Amino acid sequence: DWTPDVFVESTVEGLKAQLGDDQVVLGLSGGVDSSVAAMLIHKAIGKNLHCIFVDNGLLRKNEFEQVLESYKGMGLNVKGVNASQEFYAALAGLTDPEDKRKAIGRVFIEVFDKEAHAIQNVKWLGQGTIYPDVIESVSVNGPSVTIKSHHNVGGLPEKMKMKVVEPLNTLFKDEVRRVGRSLEIDEAILGRHPFPGPGLGIRILGDITAEKVQILQEVDHYFIKGLKDAGLYDDVWQAGAMLLPVQSVGVMGDERTYERVVALRAVSSVDGMTADWCHLPYEFLAKVSNDIINRVKGVNRVVYDISSKPPATIEWE
Ligand code: XMP
Repeated sequence: DWTPDVFVESTVEGLKAQLGDDQVVLGLSGGVDSSVAAMLIHKAIGKNLHCIFVDNGLLRKNEFEQVLESYKGMGLNVKGVNASQEFYAALAGLTDPEDKRKAIGRVFIEVFDKEAHAIQNVKWLGQGTIYPDVIESVSVNGPSVTIKSHHNVGGLPEKMKMKVVEPLNTLFKDEVRRVGRSLEIDEAILGRHPFPGPGLGIRILGDITAEKVQILQEVDHYFIKGLKDAGLYDDVWQAGAMLLPVQSVGVMGDERTYERVVALRAVSSVDGMTADWCHLPYEFLAKVSNDIINRVKGVNRVVYDISSKPPATIEWE
């Protein structure tokens, strides 16, 4: 029978045999999959695993610092690379969602490749690919249809000319979490909502600027913190905020305002392929809306997305 402990033990043995004294490089994202993959490889080869965590400037508020700290606490050999300006420069003026995804994927590969080559003698690229990714890259991004180019770093192994090691590629998400618990990875990492690789870049509709990122980070912060404080975070599969390319009229004191609109989205789902909007309590929505409008400068209206997938995707872009 499959158990996480047996999986860890046999996978670590297998990795030791496969990797020997070789050096491995792995990109951490802050998510469950890459973190669990890293810990397994770390358990097998220790400091010969070199992790790279890139700040693309599109992460949640304070996420880069917090996640980097917890990785260090886990004993990982990890380098944080702040590349925000490179991403913003590549994104300047782009409005089409697929163009934005491609730009983000391309800069990520450039930054990662440069960092990886600064390490001596790296032979392997570690990846947190899980079983559904293997399936999905066949069915969703097949030869004729591309719905969204989710696997935005799909070109990485080819570009790097390295052998690939993917210790999770037979597991489903819930099994990855169980393996993570067996490895004693922080619950704050294991219980995280999914977050897209292009991050806030596909939650800012239209073109991206540092100023818009900062506004959306604040909005998202009040929403996610609100969910946690209300004990609702674990009931929701994924949540986030979208910055809309719309301004609306408001009133503050005697003044007329003309400011931004944000949309909040929270869904329940099993695998992200279908999703229902969450029926969050009105009192909760009222509090979060007040927090956002009172505290985030430049936003005067909050709406809640009540669309299910299909047809409405989880992300707006
Ligand atoms: P959609 O919007 O297609 O999203 O309903 C389904 C799940 O996929 C995530 N998503 C992405 N993840 N790169 C990613 O790594 C992407 O370009 C991307 N687009 C969507 C989304 O957050 C949700 O969990």
